[in-house]
Amino acid sequence: MTRIGTSDLDIFPLSLGGNVFGWTADRDASFAVLDAFVDGGGDFIDTADSYSSWVPGNSGGESETIIGEWLASRKPAGLTVATKVSQHPDFRGLSAGNVRKAAEASLGRLGVESIDLYYAHFDDQSVPLEETVGAFGQLVADGLVRHVAVSNYSADRIREWMDIARRTGVAQPVAIQPHYNLVHRNEVEESIIPVAEEFGLGLVPYYSLASGFLTGKYRSVETDGQTSPRAAGAAKYATDAGLRVIDALEEIGAAHGASIAATSLAWLRAQPTVVAPIASARTVEQVPDLLAGARLELGADEIETLNRVSEWTPAQA
Ligand SMILES: NC(=O)c1ccc[n+]([C@@H]2O[C@H](COP(=O)([O-])OP(=O)(O)OC[C@H]3O[C@@H](n4cnc5c(N)ncnc54)[C@H](OP(=O)(O)O)[C@@H]3O)[C@@H](O)[C@H]2O)c1
Repeated sequence: MTRIGTSDLDIFPLSLGGNVFGWTADRDASFAVLDAFVDGGGDFIDTADSYSSWVPGNSGGESETIIGEWLASRKPAGLTVATKVSQHPDFRGLSAGNVRKAAEASLGRLGVESIDLYYAHFDDQSVPLEETVGAFGQLVADGLVRHVAVSNYSADRIREWMDIARRTGVAQPVAIQPHYNLVHRNEVEESIIPVAEEFGLGLVPYYSLASGFLTGKYRSVETDGQTSPRAAGAAKYATDAGLRVIDALEEIGAAHGASIAATSLAWLRAQPTVVAPIASARTVEQVPDLLAGARLELGADEIETLNRVSEWTPAQA
């Protein structure tokens, strides 16, 4: 188990991504994936109020509704559920009034009394940050939210948020959710990990499998014959450089009897401040690789090999 930053949230070090629920996984498939994840020891679920509003016929909130129905049916003990605000079509942005209304709507869909971890999904620079920080702080003070977190924020804006929260005495963020994986490293390593280290925040990376590329199932940038809506976003990494990363993962994973996916998640877990990579599964068959990724420990030499093969160039000062 791993502690998220300075919070009291002790979690299994792999978070199940919820954006497939109500999209590429229907209600039954979602229930089966959630059951398999929890049966395998998982206890940390990531969603957002906007998932999956981009699907024709959906309006947002489908993922939270499925998770809420599953929670009501299974009543699992000790689960940590994270959700996010700012992108739901009916609750856009981070004004104080919107944050409050969106949180109440999420609580209703999830059927819980408080949200364990509540993210500002994307920065909203049209609202003074003092107002947003105050709104999140009020949710914690009122017991609707246990812990605050931020996603897709720049390091400077995270610092500003921390300063305001400290100055005004409201709850400070405990986690950051950035886009981070073996083929998307530089921005996070350059600016986000240092700010997480500075404030003792836990990193919860998303796109941990690069939308499926880091499972090794895309060996060409061509997506002919691929039916997944994630195929184009994943296959674009299948360049010579990307495939060298896959080859290294395959070789290192083989020494542990682990898949490429599990090995790539284990690399991410080994990075400074990372507490739990987020990865989604569309089917029950995909879940064991995610669980294995939470348990596999790589040697320092293996991590170094993966660092080298996925090397990036730091920006010039
Ligand atoms: N904060 C943000 O702005 C933000 C943005 C994006 C995502 N997220 C969060 O991060 C989560 C993960 O993102 P993501 O699902 O887009 O990307 P991901 O975790 O990088 O990729 C997951 C996809 O890889 C494939 N996969 C998973 N396990 C596999 C296995 N064992 N073998 C073969 N293929 C496998 C599945 O896609 P197929 O269906 O194609 O097989 C699965 O949906 C989301 O659910 C969401 O909770 C947050």
